[in-house]
Amino acid sequence: MAQLWGGRFTKETDQLVYNFNASISFDQRFLKQDITGSIAHATMLGKTGIISDEESAQIIEGLKTILSDVENGKLEITSEYEDVHSFVEANLIDRIGDAGKKLHTGRSRNDQVALDMKLYTRDEITNIKELVKELMETVHSLMKDNLDTYMPGFTHLQKAQPVTFAHHAGAYMEMFKRDYSRLSDIYDRMNICPLGAGALAGTTYPLDRELTAELLGFAGPTLNSMDSVSDRDYVIELLSALSTISMHLSRFSEEIIIWNSNEYQFVELDDAYSTGSSIMPQKKNPDIAELVRGKTGRVYAALVSMLTSMKGIPLAYNKDMQEDKELTFDAIDTVKGCIALFNGMIKTMKLNKERMRRSAMEGFTNATDAADYLVKKGVPFRDAHGIIGRLVLYSIDNKKSLDELSLDEYKAICPVFEDDIYEAISLETCVSLRNTIGAPGIEAMKKVIAINEDYLKNL
Ligand code: ARG
Repeated sequence: MAQLWGGRFTKETDQLVYNFNASISFDQRFLKQDITGSIAHATMLGKTGIISDEESAQIIEGLKTILSDVENGKLEITSEYEDVHSFVEANLIDRIGDAGKKLHTGRSRNDQVALDMKLYTRDEITNIKELVKELMETVHSLMKDNLDTYMPGFTHLQKAQPVTFAHHAGAYMEMFKRDYSRLSDIYDRMNICPLGAGALAGTTYPLDRELTAELLGFAGPTLNSMDSVSDRDYVIELLSALSTISMHLSRFSEEIIIWNSNEYQFVELDDAYSTGSSIMPQKKNPDIAELVRGKTGRVYAALVSMLTSMKGIPLAYNKDMQEDKELTFDAIDTVKGCIALFNGMIKTMKLNKERMRRSAMEGFTNATDAADYLVKKGVPFRDAHGIIGRLVLYSIDNKKSLDELSLDEYKAICPVFEDDIYEAISLETCVSLRNTIGAPGIEAMKKVIAINEDYLKNL
């Protein structure tokens, strides 16, 4: 057991207590962030004259060698240390002696861990944004390629009105755009530096907090030392954004599972993204989509867990907050994996355009347009709705679609129908007349695609 705080104690820590309390098994992920933060702190301590320039230089050199030794496998992080902070400090002292003992001047593990967590999550926000961007690029090209890939649009999972695959995918594009901007917002709000807050009440040393903030790429220092060490709002915001991303991926996955089913066959997942059954030779299962859907649960769990852990914590630091790490790491790893796999899955999936088109023609998806046709001929909408309702009933009884009825059959129900009804209710007309911005009509979709093209270029 290598502890930083033995002085006041007369007894060794019980081994079980030590194990329960230690965080090295998971916070060793912070090694790079911990060392980066310490280098900034040592630089500032030197610049302000709190320690000498030589001491500052020795510390920085020592820290750099610790990082490279771990990265090269020369130095191992072991459970002999309570946490990553103790590991780094003990190794530094081993290497450079007394100067190493000055690194922690004007600092506490409370502001140190608050900084490490911020540096870590800040980097991961950037990584996740990149993955969301790549996913949006895939969705964008699917949209460009499928402006006239007709398919039914659903409400209540019942066929409603025809749309195109470009339009359907475009709905997810909007979701992912919001996800991206949420991550940017979180980044901007959290990007202030807690280092220098000390344990909770700042320090008596003349620290230059603006300098450390600047060295670490923050917009500035935090303004309340108690809040600095006890704030995990940004973790909660990040977990919430990750939950929303997972929810979006899960909905899309659910649709792909439905579309990939034997009954629908709108899409076929690539063999590389499907799995087989150990007993049923004919099976090709959408396991990846199911896992993405399933993993949403653990991301939500991280959010609820973090909210619950924080709700009863009095100011300022309490050890409960150590619980923020494993669940945040897991949520980040999970979401990164899901986005990357989902992206690969939809990139390689084949669309069965003919099947989608046929499906869009069945199920009376053009019934609204048939009613609108009558309205254009002067029939009040409510009456038109009733007439088309009767036509649908007649068609169901006679196993026909609206396109297959003869003009006589139309006229038998309402004499207003003319030969132009067929053109008015064709799939192409139904979609192409919907041309207000945001609608599936090809002209409207082209405008949206141009907007998205610009958006992606400027990200
Ligand atoms: N491992 C601790 C955590 O993750 C580091 C901070 C320890 N501070 C303390 N006062 N015990 O929160």
